[in-house]
Amino acid sequence: MGSMFRIAAIPADGVGAEVVEAGRAVLDAVTGPGIELSWTEFDWGCDYYARTGRMMAEDGLEQLAGFDAIYFGAVGWPTVPDHVSLWGLRLAVCQGFDQWANIRPVRFLPGVTSPLRKADDTELDWIVVRENSEGEYAGLGGRNLAARGRGSEVAVQSSLFTESGCERIMRFAFDLARGRERRRLTSVTKSNAQQYGMVLWDEVFERVAADYPDVETDSCLVDAMAARFVLRPEDLSVVVASNLHADILSDLGSALTGSLGTAASANLNPERRFPSMFEPVHGSAPDIAGQGVANPIGAIGSAALMLEHLGFPDEAARVNRAVETVTAAGVLPRDLGGTATTKDVTSAVIDALG
Ligand code: NAI
Ligand code: MG
Repeated sequence: MGSMFRIAAIPADGVGAEVVEAGRAVLDAVTGPGIELSWTEFDWGCDYYARTGRMMAEDGLEQLAGFDAIYFGAVGWPTVPDHVSLWGLRLAVCQGFDQWANIRPVRFLPGVTSPLRKADDTELDWIVVRENSEGEYAGLGGRNLAARGRGSEVAVQSSLFTESGCERIMRFAFDLARGRERRRLTSVTKSNAQQYGMVLWDEVFERVAADYPDVETDSCLVDAMAARFVLRPEDLSVVVASNLHADILSDLGSALTGSLGTAASANLNPERRFPSMFEPVHGSAPDIAGQGVANPIGAIGSAALMLEHLGFPDEAARVNRAVETVTAAGVLPRDLGGTATTKDVTSAVIDALG
């Protein structure tokens, strides 16, 4: 008896199309008669914007609502201002579907030299959990050009922290930490400078921690955390942070593993009222788009996170092991110092699935 899943693919812009194609090929190879994926592709993104003035169809969320998951590439192209493309598509989906937890594993691969020279892929392994619905990305604020005139303009961009928003992401992170070998959760804060939002964040963390006596906790200022990612990453297991802090820290984490191109992420609606979305951490990389050299490992890792979410942890583990076999054998794309193309890496991963 097989199960059938409807997946919406949104490659969007730049290398998005190249890496989504790679991830789909791996998914189709790892699934069989037991798990059937039925794909529908949407052509939303910056080209669609040029034709229609919108980043996605007006009823886009309704069109996506019936899918079991969304597989996303990357959004953004120099022809459209970045805040328009990001808010018009990716953030519209994340916020519209209440995908409030963003999971970003920092994964060190064998055969890839980290700028952390002593890094050992068997010892370093942590996950950034990003609050994905509010905080600095609440979209609150405004600009006042008319009243003050050019040259004196003022803009306000406020953060929104709710007790329930903090609590649900922290419980999610504690549950994740509880299931790992190293039961430790580190909270990222900036309450020394941001005395309202971040102090509430700290208080909720302390309160929720009381329900998880079996998980070790600590709290770290975001600037110190950036240094700790580089200088002392051995004791990290799960790191929970606000929307903006986690966005920046997870780029740092993926750069430490060798390249932004290897980092995967899942935007989850944990209640499963809406489809969740799986995407590489990187953007549309206009500087290398169209050349066939994009690193597909982040997109492939995101496909593995999607398999896990759909209830297939064994297949997800097979995909992750295949990626490790390939990097350990030295089949590396350009951003990791190798010469393999997107297609070379993808077919090597498919071969390694066994
Ligand atoms: P980016 O992630 O696209 O590129 C940063 C650097 O990493 C570039 O040098 C690029 O060549 C390299 N890189 C990224 N992905 C790679 C891959 N798979 N293989 C090899 N090298 C890779 O970030 P950037 O340049 O700041 O932004 C470009 C566009 O992407 C902008 O429009 C931005 O708004 C958008 N963006 C979209 C995101 C999303 O859809 N989730 C996330 C980040 C940026
Ligand atoms: Mg980012």
